[in-house]
Amino acid sequence: MSRVIGGFGISHTPSMGMEYDKGMAQGFDPRWQKWFDGTRRLKQWLDETKPDKMVIVYNDHLNHFDFDAYPTIAIGVAPEFRQADEGWGPRPFPSLVGDVDLGWYMTNKLVRGGYDLTVCQDLAIDHGIYSWLPYVMDTPWDTPIVPIAINMVRHPIPTSERLHGLGKAIRAALEDDGSNDRIAVVSTGGMSHQISGARFGIANETLDEWFLSKIGNDFSELIDLPQEELMRLGGTEAAELALWFSMRGALSDNISEVYRYYTFPAITGCGVIVFDDHAV
Ligand SMILES: [Fe+2]
Repeated sequence: MSRVIGGFGISHTPSMGMEYDKGMAQGFDPRWQKWFDGTRRLKQWLDETKPDKMVIVYNDHLNHFDFDAYPTIAIGVAPEFRQADEGWGPRPFPSLVGDVDLGWYMTNKLVRGGYDLTVCQDLAIDHGIYSWLPYVMDTPWDTPIVPIAINMVRHPIPTSERLHGLGKAIRAALEDDGSNDRIAVVSTGGMSHQISGARFGIANETLDEWFLSKIGNDFSELIDLPQEELMRLGGTEAAELALWFSMRGALSDNISEVYRYYTFPAITGCGVIVFDDHAV
């Protein structure tokens, strides 16, 4: 039986990745220096806990999938996942290491458990993972991952409750996998922001901080919020907050919050929250 040792939720944005590259070359803009500093504790947690593998629930932004065929829930089952070129060329980072055996195992368990996954044996990954990963993990990135991509682009998108259930199903699968791995479950989604239409640029820092304060052991009010309400309060892309419930669903009730941080560099709220899971 593998063990979920903890997990974290973290924002992603294209600018987070570009600002990392600029920051490492010539120093960070003060707004992004705050985010860099704010992610040090998560990097320390990963350095200390050294998970054997990570399951990462994220969303693609039309960089791998397109509207010809947009899966609601997809899983990456491949030995490696290359970086998607989002239009400005590949950044200087390696491909991500996959875990084919765990990927197929989870596919079987999740499909038979009611989550009908699209299996991707070729999957390019965009800023959904590549924007924050350099902040929190040094290369080479040799911790194998199983990426699970959720449609957050074309409505209807899965509900918060459904994504929380996906997290529970992920945990149940891992606890029954016949291995002895220590696994971290990660969810990443943008916090409040809107990048289209008349409300372009709106955000809601109060909503973001309230979300972070509740996601641990007081999330019933959050999970009951319809996504339309999240979008009304925080902008259309605030719907991505629903992804964070998969991480929470994969953790037990016996958790402790290790760290929480929030800042608002530009356009999108940037937050991180880290939990240890004490259930055996
Ligand atoms: Fe996103």
